[in-house]
Amino acid sequence: MKIGVFDSGIGGLSVLKSLYNSKLFKKMIYYGDTARVPYGTKDKETIIKFCLEALDFFKQHKVDFLIIACNTASAYALDTLRQNSSFPIFGVIEAGINETKKQIIDKNKKILVIATKATIDSKEYQKRLALEGFTQIQALATGLFVPLVEEGIFENKVLSSIFDYYFKDIQHPDALILACTHFPFLAKPLQKYFGDDIKLIHSGDSMVEFLKKYYTLRPSKESKIEFYASSNVDYLKIAAKKWLNF
Ligand code: DGL
Repeated sequence: MKIGVFDSGIGGLSVLKSLYNSKLFKKMIYYGDTARVPYGTKDKETIIKFCLEALDFFKQHKVDFLIIACNTASAYALDTLRQNSSFPIFGVIEAGINETKKQIIDKNKKILVIATKATIDSKEYQKRLALEGFTQIQALATGLFVPLVEEGIFENKVLSSIFDYYFKDIQHPDALILACTHFPFLAKPLQKYFGDDIKLIHSGDSMVEFLKKYYTLRPSKESKIEFYASSNVDYLKIAAKKWLNF
């Protein structure tokens, strides 16, 4: 099976990493729209337009199914993409909600969703969590985390003042949903900041479990990944080497 993984840029490597580590997929094609990242600051029409163009790329590469690793794209373009495709398309949000349901049994626990501005504005996470019965949902756009990760800035002092800035008015959560491709790279400092008592949920990580519901996946001895980008593919490959430990 040949699977496609789409992201607005390099952040989707966090999702690719989970897929790669599962050793369940023989052939993967990653495409990052690095020329036009970030999507998280753009409007709905623009995000849909860019995603439809990416869909053409995956049609040409004849993938069996497509994973939208980008939360912002999943929030705005999933339905349109599905309407325009003959192969199945999966978004990270559904996977993330499933994982939250699995990990957080008590519906009165405090859930904090952090994501790009566009994802938070779409209210996709908030609506779906409420539908699942969660009663205490906070949602916060923490867009500054995206360039920090892109720049590889994980310096404690810088992070802690930005964490203070964003989280100063937030009630201490029981669970934190990392609803952006880049945020898993900040998982350790975030866990340290909030304490070990909170659960961190990464939508991308839950994608493997989610796909098992639809496909019979058998371990594969080799995993081949091809990388494509709308700009600077070498940068994407270097990041992949570093982040995925090829
Ligand atoms: N990939 C985006 C997401 O998961 C983050 C980067 C962007 O804004 O494009 O929402």
